[in-house]
Amino acid sequence: SHRASICYRRIEPSDREILEQIHCDLFPIRYESEFFQNVVNGQDIVSWAAVDRNRPNGRSDELVGFVTARIVLAKESEIGDMLRYDPSKPDQTLVYILTLGVVDGYRNLGIASSLIQKVVKYASSIQTCRAVYLHVISYNDPAIRLYKKMSFQCLRRLQGFYLIGGQQYDSYLFVYYVNGG
Ligand code: ACO
Repeated sequence: SHRASICYRRIEPSDREILEQIHCDLFPIRYESEFFQNVVNGQDIVSWAAVDRNRPNGRSDELVGFVTARIVLAKESEIGDMLRYDPSKPDQTLVYILTLGVVDGYRNLGIASSLIQKVVKYASSIQTCRAVYLHVISYNDPAIRLYKKMSFQCLRRLQGFYLIGGQQYDSYLFVYYVNGG
């Protein structure tokens, strides 16, 4: 074993294959290839990668964690009514976290926390942005603990939000307000 040296950078086209592999390994939901294409090309999606500069066997630039997010219009989102924003300003936005993951062997080092901080910092830097939000499946205790620890608020439980293998699962909607919410 070695001492990890974690760096954060943008996701690039050369990350596509490993990004797809990790999504496949970590999530119960299948994502379209168009999604991965949009992530690596930064089309409507912002993303960050975590890499371990001390990783052996030529893997020092390979993703060990990632977060992907999309900017959405507040008035078109499901939480538009939960914001304090001025309705006379129709250009208000939100950042929606699509996927967040850290590979086995790199968990509990604070990588996901750092990735969330990148998203929050980015959202705060956008003047029109009022919040960061996301959905998480109701049985994902490590992720729920993480969002609570990062001071996200649970707004609601959505019944049957996910359909996986013919089975319905609830989700929680978490939000973190920025720029006055
Ligand atoms: N040293 C030791 N422990 C630490 C450190 C540190 N420096 N920093 C944080 N921790 C602890 C935290 O306190 C936390 O403890 P807790 O479980 O008691 O809350 C725990 O480590 C986890 O925090 P992180 O290390 O920041 O999280 P991690 O990098 O392990 O990733 C994640 C968490 C993303 C949930 C991971 O388990 C994972 O990839 N799971 C599978 C995919 C997944 O579920 N993704 C989220 C789905 S929801 C969505 O995508 C919108």
